[in-house]
Amino acid sequence: MEAIIADFVPPMPAPAPRRPSAIGGLLRARRDVLSIFPADAYRRQVFTTRLPGRLILVANAPEVVREVFVTKHDTYQRKSRFLEDALRPVVGGSCFIASGDDWAERREAISPPIHPSGLAQFHTCYVRAAEECAERIARADGPVDVAAVFATAITRVLLLAVFGDGVPPEEAETIAATFTAYQDAAEVVDLLGLMGLPDVLGWLTRRRANRLAVALRGRVARLIADAGPAGGTPLLRALRAAHRADGSPVLAGERLLDEVVMFLLAGAEGAAITLTWTTMLAALHPATADRMAAELPAAAPAFADINGMVFTRAVVQESMRLYPPVAVFARQATQPDRIRRWDIRTGDIVLAVPWLLHRHEALWEAPHAFRPDRFLGDASRRRPRFAYMPFGVGPRICAGAAFGMAEVMVFAAILFRRFRFALAPGFVPRPNCRLALRPKGGMTMLVSAR
Ligand code: HEM
Repeated sequence: MEAIIADFVPPMPAPAPRRPSAIGGLLRARRDVLSIFPADAYRRQVFTTRLPGRLILVANAPEVVREVFVTKHDTYQRKSRFLEDALRPVVGGSCFIASGDDWAERREAISPPIHPSGLAQFHTCYVRAAEECAERIARADGPVDVAAVFATAITRVLLLAVFGDGVPPEEAETIAATFTAYQDAAEVVDLLGLMGLPDVLGWLTRRRANRLAVALRGRVARLIADAGPAGGTPLLRALRAAHRADGSPVLAGERLLDEVVMFLLAGAEGAAITLTWTTMLAALHPATADRMAAELPAAAPAFADINGMVFTRAVVQESMRLYPPVAVFARQATQPDRIRRWDIRTGDIVLAVPWLLHRHEALWEAPHAFRPDRFLGDASRRRPRFAYMPFGVGPRICAGAAFGMAEVMVFAAILFRRFRFALAPGFVPRPNCRLALRPKGGMTMLVSAR
């Protein structure tokens, strides 16, 4: 079975024919960030591009990733202006894009309620949303865009976790669809911001993006108001309860809204995308789907069952290696620095690109091949620590990584035990990286009972 898996290379964009010029790269990047990398980007340790007024350095070796994201966290903790501009209308000043003391305070407030030690309390949310999702898929008459179905279903998990089961299921659909529309609008406009270039074309799209952001925040603000000042789930109450030394709340009013919206969006996006790519891999490689189904419990898994789903976890990890939901991390230097032989000035951009690191020829055997077995046993311990970063690394590592992994595993258990997935005839999956690595045009599948 391993030999078959080793031969299977799932869809990826062709590398750029040669190193593109800065402007050529920019134009390609507007369509798809992944298409700018030439073949040697999968071999190099550090490389740079110079744009008017700024250097962009790609940290493409585990030691350099550690230097930027861990050792020099203070210098590189600030997210790129591109990401800040793209997300601020919708998540406000949330932990996801904050920096400095504000980030530290928000991060400390949001982490305890989703700490790995308390995840069992959310298990019923995962199971309920996954079963609703399975019913919806079972009712479908014809091809299903699983990317859209999963986006709604995972948003439903977060709504259940934050607001409880009083929120109607349709709310998840509205929020997920509005966010997708927002991203489509915001991404088109703001990529030029990454390079610090003026955006002359985008004001109409920006107006549309802002309208969607206002609608989204309004919906979530109503849900918070409906929960009442002291009510809601333990998660919502814990967010409200975080206090400073002087007794004032860390999260109230707009700041609370920022973090709840961020939970709904950042929390749903990564997991829904992971599930989508994993389902595509299961569809393209039926031997893997069968091997997963063989280890999955016949009924919905109990929380304790998740640890026993060893091969399914390896498939999910391999899926996040090949299709990291956040495929590019961009940070701006907040003070001058030096990395290897390059002088970094304040405002220069340093990138870590999981898409490249996870497929780096010096770090992975047959890097583009689908081999879940590379995550079994102690294989991961033999690899450099910073070669694999689907959740980021260092102090800004995803605060919901364990939550996200647990929900993906519960969905995988329920869906892959019950269904066989196949790509709809004529549908070609196309990885497309803008803010996140999503399949362009969704992921249209035919689903049958197993
Ligand atoms: C499979 C699912 C998920 C994936 C792949 C994922 C991935 C990521 C990544 C790559 C980052 C950025 C790290 C950086 O820029 O350095 C991040 C940040 C974050 N994620 Fe997740 N995430 C997932 C699920 C979740 C969930 C379920 C939650 C909340 C319930 C969550 C909350 C956050 C927060 C709060 C941050 C900001 C952390 C900070 O800047 O301090 N994520 N996530």
